[in-house]
Amino acid sequence: MAANEITADTQVARIFEWRRGFNTIYLMHLGVQLGLFKALAESPGAEPAQLAQKLGLQPVYVDRWCMTAYGMELLDAEGAGYKLAPFFDVILAAPTHPRYLGGYVQLGAEFAGPDFMHCLEAFKTGKFVPFQGRGDAFNLAIASSTWGLQVITAKKILPGLAGLNERLAQGGAILEVGCGTGNLLVQIAKSFPSARVVGIDIDAQSIATARKRIADANLGDRVEARHGTLADLPAGSFDAAVMVEVLHEIGQEIRPAVVKDTARAIKSGGWMVIVDETYPSNHDEARKPEFKFPLHTGFEELLWGNVIPTREEQESLFRNAGLTAGIDRSLIGEGFTVLATQKP
Ligand SMILES: C[S@@+](CC[C@H](N)C(=O)[O-])C[C@H]1O[C@@H](n2cnc3c(N)ncnc32)[C@H](O)[C@@H]1O
Repeated sequence: MAANEITADTQVARIFEWRRGFNTIYLMHLGVQLGLFKALAESPGAEPAQLAQKLGLQPVYVDRWCMTAYGMELLDAEGAGYKLAPFFDVILAAPTHPRYLGGYVQLGAEFAGPDFMHCLEAFKTGKFVPFQGRGDAFNLAIASSTWGLQVITAKKILPGLAGLNERLAQGGAILEVGCGTGNLLVQIAKSFPSARVVGIDIDAQSIATARKRIADANLGDRVEARHGTLADLPAGSFDAAVMVEVLHEIGQEIRPAVVKDTARAIKSGGWMVIVDETYPSNHDEARKPEFKFPLHTGFEELLWGNVIPTREEQESLFRNAGLTAGIDRSLIGEGFTVLATQKP
């Protein structure tokens, strides 16, 4: 049999592998929520009975969890106990590390699972359940799953833009559209200690959480979270505007207007930065590794009413908003696109 030959057996094996992947999402979710990964990060070599006692769990459940996690290579053996396999200490047990994926796992287990069940009806009715109004637990799971992107945006992407540091050091201002629960507002304020930072979002509950986060960080004198739309923002008042995982969330019918209003709020020479996903434009792209994540987000967020823009759609949105200079385009992580352009 040739190495890549497709047979009924190889196709069956793929289904069983995906089915194990489905279970592994829940295995990881349980490990995060019950504190098993954290306990193993703190005490490598712990035995299931010790973990069970420490966390107040049933030994027989923990024993089966450990053995399965070992089989899936999330854990390695150490003596009679277990330890985390390489790198999972940060990926699954360190919520403030940029590589942490516990929130993304949670989003799959707690929200994507039920959403897919609602799709049985939605495919027939066309109804959707938008992002807004889903509540705090959902908003915080989103914020946790985008945490790494926020850190990279505040610490690498924005500080790397020509002239922005200087503008912000002289008391400039930065706008975040779709700021959600405000993690990035605080991160930006820390990266640019003289800048004024304004976030805006149409989800009232996210803004309430963002305001609390800003107050807790003692940044109320120069960081603000506003509930509402961009129409009220004065033209040419920001040195940069940024959106992280927001463009594809904006309804297609209002997307051109939102991008235009955002561009209007930027000063001439200021930056527009969009960190989002790019949907494959054709079949060829749909099987390329860099499009796997956006392809699946597009499927997972069907029920939210989200439509991920293709490269052509992104470029047309920029042009129509008067952002006609060249667009720097780069790929980060598992399939996120960074778009940056300077307003003429
Ligand atoms: C996936 S969340 C990302 C939130 C945050 N940027 C983060 O990375 O955690 C998308 C956010 O965009 C907001 N949003 C959607 N349409 C918007 C609009 N027209 N104006 C402002 N915010 C909007 C949603 O309410 C939501 O908070």
